[in-house]
Amino acid sequence: MAKIALGVTSSVSIYKACEVLRGFQKAGYEVQVLMTRNAARLISPLLFSSLSGRKVIVELFADDHPWSVAHVALARETGLLAVVPATANIIAKFARGIADDFLSTFYLAVESPVLIAPAMNAAMFLHPRTQANVRELRARGVEFAEPGRGYLACGDEGVGRLAEPEEIVARGLDLLRRSGSLRGRTVLVTAGPTRESLDPVRFLSNRSSGKMGYEMAREALARGARVVLVTGPVALFPPAKAEVVRVESAAEMEAAVLREFPRADIVVMAAAVADFAFAAPSGRKIKKPGLPESLAVVPTPDILKMLGARKAGQVLVGFAAETEDLRENALAKVRAKNLDLIVANDVSRGDIGFEADDNQALLIDAAGRVTPTAKMSKRELSREIWNVLEEILVRRS
Ligand SMILES: Cc1cc2nc3c(=O)[nH]c(=O)nc-3n(C[C@H](O)[C@H](O)[C@H](O)COP(=O)(O)O)c2cc1C
Repeated sequence: MAKIALGVTSSVSIYKACEVLRGFQKAGYEVQVLMTRNAARLISPLLFSSLSGRKVIVELFADDHPWSVAHVALARETGLLAVVPATANIIAKFARGIADDFLSTFYLAVESPVLIAPAMNAAMFLHPRTQANVRELRARGVEFAEPGRGYLACGDEGVGRLAEPEEIVARGLDLLRRSGSLRGRTVLVTAGPTRESLDPVRFLSNRSSGKMGYEMAREALARGARVVLVTGPVALFPPAKAEVVRVESAAEMEAAVLREFPRADIVVMAAAVADFAFAAPSGRKIKKPGLPESLAVVPTPDILKMLGARKAGQVLVGFAAETEDLRENALAKVRAKNLDLIVANDVSRGDIGFEADDNQALLIDAAGRVTPTAKMSKRELSREIWNVLEEILVRRS
């Protein structure tokens, strides 16, 4: 069984890491504790050694590690890295890729899911720099056990209190459970809008932010899949380890998708491909006086329909953004395009769908089974969608 690496940093809530260690052990996992030097000044590593039954690692340059290059050897055996509690400092180092001690070096070497449980004074947590670091790590695929509000050790009230140890353990175990469920599968995800040029300056596009597709890619990676992410222009960090193919127009997206399609087991078409392109794009900027009164457009290729017709065992997922008759329109699309699942959402609401962080959807499969979801973050929704997709994979096998 894979080991859990428990990173412990120098927050005053460090004593709660003992409970997290016990929780992982109770679930049957071997835990290797990695402490920062500062953490080892707050609590003796001896406490964690005696609880874990293993020597705690603090130093990067130590000649008593049982492995030749310890951070790399341990990384190979690790199924989950949980950092509890995580200081503002370690979060900043992870976000920047600074590797100046064992734990931060290990973070770069480990390929397992990573769970971070921050704990700090409210001002430190809400500092724009810390918030930006959290956002970036989250976008790259790191999971966070959100700190709660409450009475902090510094005497302040506010956000920054370490999440409850039982919750951290449950989140860690859930990550471990999901981490191998798509191992050996190749997932192709499309995300974001496309841009159809009128000339080198102007283009036709849509409001897709790419968030849903990026979350689908991130969750597939967390479950152990190989992920190819074909993305239109968006302002997001791609998840670490995704093979990213950047495209601009519908025609470029079509070419990239058709190239990757034969090797894919599951294809998630979350991109909002522009429906129309200009009939006569110009290679040079069209001067204002030369602009015609109206511009002719032509339909772009229907990539999803093309894939539905060519399917050879792939599970094909489409997305439907509708403003009316959501269920009927989505059902018709599943059938017309030979999909295995459609994720339908109502884009007439401002709080979900395009550009929003949240979404609420109907998941409709080829047999017409409808699973409505609650309103939730796109990250949570990606888990729900992958759970349904895994059921489809099980039914097929
Ligand atoms: C008693 C004490 C408590 C601290 N508690 C926290 C904390 O809860 N969160 C935090 O981010 N930093 C806290 N700090 C500051 C960190 O220890 C400091 O930023 C340190 O450089 C972090 O080192 P490390 O991330 O390598 O463990 C505390 C410092 C002291 C002396």
